[in-house]
Amino acid sequence: MKPHIICHMMTSLDGGLHPSRWTASPDGNRAGWSATYEDIHKRFGADGWLVGRVTMAEMSKAGPHAPEGPFDVNRSLHVADPDARSFAIAVDQHGKLHFNGSDFDGDHVIVLLGKDVSDQHLAELVADGVSYIVSDGQEMDLYSLLETLGREFNIRRLLLEGGAGVNGSFFAAGLVDELSLLVAPAVDARKGSDRFIEYGQDGLAGKCELSLLSCDSLSDGLLHLKYAVKASA
Ligand SMILES: NC(=O)c1ccc[n+]([C@@H]2O[C@H](COP(=O)([O-])OP(=O)(O)OC[C@H]3O[C@@H](n4cnc5c(N)ncnc54)[C@H](OP(=O)(O)O)[C@@H]3O)[C@@H](O)[C@H]2O)c1
Repeated sequence: MKPHIICHMMTSLDGGLHPSRWTASPDGNRAGWSATYEDIHKRFGADGWLVGRVTMAEMSKAGPHAPEGPFDVNRSLHVADPDARSFAIAVDQHGKLHFNGSDFDGDHVIVLLGKDVSDQHLAELVADGVSYIVSDGQEMDLYSLLETLGREFNIRRLLLEGGAGVNGSFFAAGLVDELSLLVAPAVDARKGSDRFIEYGQDGLAGKCELSLLSCDSLSDGLLHLKYAVKASA
């Protein structure tokens, strides 16, 4: 069974992703908004969080450091730490991500990879103590990758935390169960600025439906909106 997926994001009123580009507010500041975002993240009690390759690259900051061959790697699955209970997961189809260690603040790293990733890259992840799952088909089969996360890592509830690209592909595939949106009293308004969700030329119309579950007014002028998400019939 796939984990229950909650997309949890903080945005400006116009859906902007980068708080450093937003207008200021007398109601609160970026530090307070981020602290509330993290607090809600913890309160969800999820088994892990999942981000796209771009977002994970900003966090991992490591360069390539492939070990010497020959390589003897499992081409479908590697469970580096069978005792891990909380997880940091990245979608990285082409094997561009590198790591300095096997966790972020105790969350064990799992990488979801494309079929054509090299043995050399898999060997680097093994040497770093990082777990991975390789997709079966040419396209990333997100549903099957999520099922494997549930089966092999016992992940039942997962937070999807951006950026726009990975959020869009999970919504388009009908894999998101809830949206938790923390909206700050600010606008970005920059032409062409990143939004919290993006999917191709045609967007998500006809692909999913949202219905409001709750709307809470929090400290620092924040609104917390929760929606149920289902794939369009
Ligand atoms: N405000 C917030 O709460 C928040 C949260 C998270 C991120 N962010 C910001 O968002 C920005 C990144 O957003 P982004 O949209 O550029 O990147 P992203 O979603 O982090 O990563 C997109 C990349 O992930 C891979 N990917 C995603 N879905 C895939 C799929 N279905 N199949 C194969 N590969 C897939 C692709 O990598 P390849 O290009 O390698 O194919 C794609 O380019 C960052 O600047 C970050 O700081 C803000």
